Amino acid sequence: MSTYTAIKGFKDILPDEAPLWRRIEDAARDVARRYDFQELRPPIAEKTEIFARGLGQATDIVEKEMYSFVDQGEERITLRPEATAGMVRAVLENNLMAGGRAVRVFCLGPMFRYERPQKGRQRQFHQLDVEVFGDPGPEVDAELLAWLTAFLTDLGLGDLSINLNSLGCPECRPAYRRELVEFFSRRRDRLCADCRRRLELNPLRIIDCKSENCRRLVDGAPKMLDRLCRECADHLAALQKLLTAMGLKFEINPRLVRGLDYYTRTAFEVLSNDLGAQSALAGGGRYDGLCRELGGDDIPGIGFALGLERLALLLKEKGAPAEAGPDFYLAVLHESALEAAFRLAESLRAEGRRVAADWRPGSLKSRMKRADKAGAARVVMLGEDEIRRREAIVRDMRTREQSSLDLKPFLA
Ligand code: HAM
Repeated sequence: MSTYTAIKGFKDILPDEAPLWRRIEDAARDVARRYDFQELRPPIAEKTEIFARGLGQATDIVEKEMYSFVDQGEERITLRPEATAGMVRAVLENNLMAGGRAVRVFCLGPMFRYERPQKGRQRQFHQLDVEVFGDPGPEVDAELLAWLTAFLTDLGLGDLSINLNSLGCPECRPAYRRELVEFFSRRRDRLCADCRRRLELNPLRIIDCKSENCRRLVDGAPKMLDRLCRECADHLAALQKLLTAMGLKFEINPRLVRGLDYYTRTAFEVLSNDLGAQSALAGGGRYDGLCRELGGDDIPGIGFALGLERLALLLKEKGAPAEAGPDFYLAVLHESALEAAFRLAESLRAEGRRVAADWRPGSLKSRMKRADKAGAARVVMLGEDEIRRREAIVRDMRTREQSSLDLKPFLA
C-alpha cells in the first residue's frame, strides 16, 4: 500500500511488461529503417493554439479532452493529444522540406487525452506515429498501408482488416457537406442530442455516430464516395490498384470519417476484432491542407498513428514469449567468496554477459529457487569450499549438468 496513487488513466509500465514494449518499439524502428523513415522526436507539449487550429475547434479532442494549462510565463500550453500537429510544426519550423525531397518521419511516445479510461484506453497512452510530407500521390498512401501491415505482420498480427474511405477535398467536400446538412436538417428530430449539435458544428461526424437511430438515418444519407471530384476519385482508384497489386486486403467503408478535422482524401483505420467496440488499432489519412492551416507552405501530408496499449494487449493475449533471464546467477554462499564474486561478475559483464548476483543470505536451496524464478541460464556457486579449492561449481539450469570454473584469476 502507498499513500499516493498514479493519476487516473495514467499507468506504470512495469519491469515485467517492459520487454513487450521494447519488442514493439524495436519492430517499429526496424520497419522504419526498411521503409526509409527517420526518427523525429518533437516535445510532448506544444502551444495550445497548434492543436486548436490543427485538429479543429469542434473535435472531441479540442472541445473536452486536452490537458491544457497556463505556464508561469502566461503561455497557454497543451500536452500533446496526438503527434501530427506537432510534427507539422517541427517540419515547418526546422525547414526540413528545404532539400526538396519528401520528409519521411516517425515518432514513438506518450500522448494525453482526458477520456474515460477503459480496456485499451488511457489518459496517458502511447502511439507509434508515422508521417510523410511533400508527396501528394496515391503511391505514398499505398506505401504507408504496407508499412503498417509489415509492422503488424512482424509482430505476428498480420490478420487484421483495413478500412478505407475518401473524405474528398476543398473542391468537392463543401458541396457534399451542404447536401448532408440539408439531409439531416430535414430529419433533425430523429437525430440524437449529440448529432443535433454536430449538425451545426461538424456534420460529417454524424456519419460515424454509434446510436441506433442515427445509424439508420445515415444508411439513407448521401455518401462522400458518390460525390468525389475527378481528382479525388482517381486518387482513390489508383490507391486501390496498388494495394491490390501488393496483395493487401482492404474494405471500402463509407462510414469512416475519423475524429480529427484535418483529413482530406484518403482516410483509413486498421481494426482488430479482438478488441471489442473501441477496436481501432491504428488510424490515419491524408492532410493536404494542414501545413497551410498551421502557417506553412502548401505541403501535402499523410500519416497514421497506432495505439501501443492496444497492441500490447493483443500481443499479451496471443501469449508473447517471455524474455530470457540472466546468463549467470552468482550464488554467494560465504563472506570469504564475496571479493572473488565481485571480480568474476565484473569480468563477465565486461564480456557482455548478463549477470545477476545474489548477495542476500540464505541456504543453497533458497538461492537455487530464486535463480530458477529469475530464469537464469547458469548458477555459479561460490562458498567457503570453492574458495579453498579455487574452483567454483557452475550448474546449467536447463540440463542440470555441473561443471567447474577456475577461480584463480579472481582471487587476490
Ligand atoms: P487517432 O485515431 O486519434 O489518430 O489515434 C490513433 C490511435 O491511437 C487509435 O487508433 C488508438 O489505437 C490510439 N488511441 C487514441 N486514443 C487513445 C487512448 N485514449 N488510449 C489508448 N489508445 C488511444 C491520431 O492520433 C492521428 N494523429 C493519426 C494520424 C497521423 N493521422 C495522420 N497522421
